[in-house]
Parts: sequence; C-alpha cells; structure tokens
Amino acid sequence: MPAITINHAREHIGEQVTIQGWLYNKRSSGKILFLQVRDGTGVIQAVISAVDTSALFDQAEGLTRETSLVMRGTVRADDRAPTGCELQPTSIDVIHSPDVPFPIDLKEHTPGFLMDQRHLWIRTGRQVPILRIRDAVFRAFRQFFHDRGFIATEAPILTGTSVEGTTTLFELDYFGDKAYLSQSGQLYLEATAMALGNVYWIGPAFRAEKSKTRKHITEFWIAEAEMAFCDHAANLEIQEQLVSYIVDFVAGERKQELQQLGRDPAALRAQVKLPFPRIDYADAVDRLSKAGHDITFGDDFGAPHEATLAEMFGRPVFVERFPSAMKPFYMKRDPKDEARVLGADLIAPEGYGEIIGGSQREDSYAALVAHMEEQKLPLDAYQWYLDLRRFGSVPHAGFGMGMERVVTWLCGAAHIREAIPFARQINRLYP
Ligand code: 4AD
Ligand code: MG
Repeated sequence: MPAITINHAREHIGEQVTIQGWLYNKRSSGKILFLQVRDGTGVIQAVISAVDTSALFDQAEGLTRETSLVMRGTVRADDRAPTGCELQPTSIDVIHSPDVPFPIDLKEHTPGFLMDQRHLWIRTGRQVPILRIRDAVFRAFRQFFHDRGFIATEAPILTGTSVEGTTTLFELDYFGDKAYLSQSGQLYLEATAMALGNVYWIGPAFRAEKSKTRKHITEFWIAEAEMAFCDHAANLEIQEQLVSYIVDFVAGERKQELQQLGRDPAALRAQVKLPFPRIDYADAVDRLSKAGHDITFGDDFGAPHEATLAEMFGRPVFVERFPSAMKPFYMKRDPKDEARVLGADLIAPEGYGEIIGGSQREDSYAALVAHMEEQKLPLDAYQWYLDLRRFGSVPHAGFGMGMERVVTWLCGAAHIREAIPFARQINRLYP
C-alpha cells in the first residue's frame, strides 16, 4: 500500500491508506483516543476506540509527542476537520519513540525559548503553514519572471565592494585582503543585464544592521530583477504586477495555510488590485506631518511612519523621488530635479514596512563617478562597474524585494524571525 500525504487524504475517502508522520498531539475522551498526526503537508486526526480496537488503543495510549510512525487505516469523511476527513487506523508502526518529552508544549512559550528551540519549533503550530507559504512566494517570484522571458542568474556572496552603504557591511579576511558579505546582488545583476537583457535571482543578502526590530534580520533573502532599456515608470509597473501576481498565486495555492493563519485570501487579493498608488516623497512627508508625525524633508521613514502610510492607503503604496542624499550612489537623479532620485520604495499594507527598494540606475559615466566621489567610495574597486557605463551604457532599472518581509505580511506574522527557517539576528546565531 503506497503512502499518501495528509493534504491528499480527502481524495481517498473510504479507502485503506498508509500515512507516515509524527505524533503531533494526543487527546482522550474516556474510551476514545484522538491522535493528531502531522507529516508536513497537514495534520490528520486518527480516532481509536477502546471498545472496537482495544489492543491498538493500549498501544496508542503509550505514544508520546513527536514519535515517528507509520499508520494504516481507512479514511472517513469529516466535514468539521480542516482536512475534511479523519483516519480510522488499523495499525501503527512506531519508527522512533523519543526518550524525553518534546520540549515545546502546545501552550504559550516565550519567544526567546522558542527561538532557542527553533529546529523543533518549526514542526509546530503556525510555523508549518508559514514555511509552506514561503515556498510558494519563492516559486511565484521565479514563475513570474520566467513567464516574461527573464533569465535567471546568480551574483557572488563574497564581494570586494559595498552596494547599500558601508555602515552595514560584514567584513571578513580574504587571504589577507578585505572582503564583504553581499548586501545585494544588484551591481552584478546590472552586468548580467547588459549581457542577457532582463535578469532575476533570489539570493542571500547580509546586513550588519544593529537594528533590533520586528522587520530586520542580518541574513535575509533578496529577490532582485534588473532590466536593460527600462526606465523608472516601467520599473514600478513590473513591481506592482509582480506583487499582485505573488499574492494571487499564494492565495490560490496556499489558501488553506492562509486560513490556518487567520488570513483571508480574498482580502489579500483585494489589497493588491492594480495599479498601486504612487506618491512623491515630499507629499508623503507632508501627509505624515499633517497626521501628527514629527518628520521633515530629508528624514528617513521609521516603522511608525510606514504604519501611518499603510493605514492611509490600505494597500501597497510606492513612495518615489526620495532626496538624492538619502539614497545610494547608483540611483539616477531626476533630470527635472537633481536633488531627487528616480527611485521608489514599496510600502506594504498593515504596517509590514518596506518590501521593495528599486530605482532607475545612473547610466552616465561622468554622473556616476561624481556620485561616487560625493559618497567617498573607492573608485578602484568599482572599475568593473564603471565599465558598464564605458561600453554601450543604456537606461536600465531594477529592484530588490525582501522575501521575509513579504512572507511576514502575507502570513500576518508578528515578527520577521518566523518568516525564515533559521533567523540570524544581532543576538542570535543558534541554532
Ligand atoms: O532597499 P534595499 O536596501 O535595496 C537594495 O538592496 C537594492 N540594491 C535592491 C535593488 O535595487 N536591486 O533592500 C531591498 C529590500 C528592502 O526593501 C527590504 O524589503 C529588504 O530588502 N531588506 C531587509 N529585509 C530583512 N532584513 C533586513 N535587514 C533588510 N534590509 C533590507
Ligand atoms: Mg530600501
């Protein structure tokens, strides 16, 4: 009898099946035992009666949480179960039975305890649907660009330069020279875009940010695209289409997981109806100070500002044309106002913060060198990047999306540390 997975159990009503998994929880009500068995795709309840199957009942009574097992039995329809069915087992083969109690109860624990037990925590509660949604977000991103003829590429993780400013670099010794962990693949994607046209990747990014917020981790997954012959307006259009596509894809494929997390797939879809509003940075500052925030032109947005903007719009909103002084050297200046850049941040609804940063890139050699000199960057290390403006420079644009920020938003998670299997934070390198 081939094993089935729990998410497909309802297709086997009335049939004998085999399920391989772990004992998630056990309850009893007098002469009936309810075993909840999980296998990563879902949780199914097995019902064992002491009257009808006393030997099996006695065996099952002794099982402890997270025992790995193979269970055989008949699938019965049950409309109240999230899976739409339950199992009436005929046999249970134990694969491994833990010697000590599983450390995570299904009650409240402190976040610190849970993070210390992260390798086990991921088996429980909301963590499984969150990681299943994460899988769908990654797949949607790749599918979106593949369908549009973009070429998947890769950028190095060990780099000799900074992209997003020198203050958040992780430095390491590289055979006697200095190297850094990549903050973003962007500069390399600009090079591959000049070779291949339109490119994308998902890769790890590192920021030695001393921020202890619910939106920052020191190692995150950045999803980036870079497009040759593309300007600022077209850049925003593809970003909004992408976000809308991802939400639609996840709402379709991970509907049940969203519902388990208390998220309404239809409400998420409604949030991402196109087009997204675009507001000028100066307008955003104006609206925020009118709403009572202490903010002036030239200030960066903090979490409270992002939350207010989200509340004002109720859907993702682009803030565009930031002051040049606030943004990295590579952003193209607005020809109508050199003090502003042709870039935008996309702010998620519900206070989940900035999910995308992007811009049209400076394509003039002279202007790029001037920006780099202003920001006191070592020109030697960037000669390869300047070559992209020496040999057939074209208008081009791109962006980077923080995958954990998107997952946090879609899952309605309280903290970004739940949106990645093993979060790296300033105080955390274990497990
Ligand atoms: O806005 P950022 O810094 O932009 C770049 O890195 C560009 N080079 C991308 C590009 O144009 N190709 O980072 C992009 C996104 C942010 O909008 C945010 O969602 C996420 O990455 N991000 C973080 N996510 C989690 N933890 C952190 N410490 C993050 N820093 C940025
Ligand atoms: Mg940014």
